Amino acid sequence: MIGHLNHVAMVVPDLDAAARLYRDTLGASVSMPVELPEHGVVTVFVELGNTKVELLHPLGAGSPIARFLERHPDGGIHHVCYEVEDIHAARDRLQQDGYRVLGDGQPRVGAHGKPVLFLHPKDFLGTLIELEQI
Ligand code: CO
Repeated sequence: MIGHLNHVAMVVPDLDAAARLYRDTLGASVSMPVELPEHGVVTVFVELGNTKVELLHPLGAGSPIARFLERHPDGGIHHVCYEVEDIHAARDRLQQDGYRVLGDGQPRVGAHGKPVLFLHPKDFLGTLIELEQI
């Protein structure tokens, strides 16, 4: 069902410091910050060639990652994103087997303009999983 690892998303307390750490210390290629108001985040994309790291910081009131940052003030891994070819087929199969899809179960347009779903971390070894249709 799942294909490539599309990205690992990390919530960080200071986006500029995080971007500098990845660019200057780790020598990675990082983007300028991109504001995604509809997702309540500012993102810096770290391009690794085979996959990406997304550095996320809350944007605006009611950001979905604000509580995560409160609980993890130093930052931390928020989710991993796996690619799927057919997100509806993936959802149907998982739900039939009793796995929980977050929200109303309808794919939403994610940060890359493609349909995404999130799977309940309690069903997947304590890790929030995003599925993205490629
Ligand atoms: Co993501």
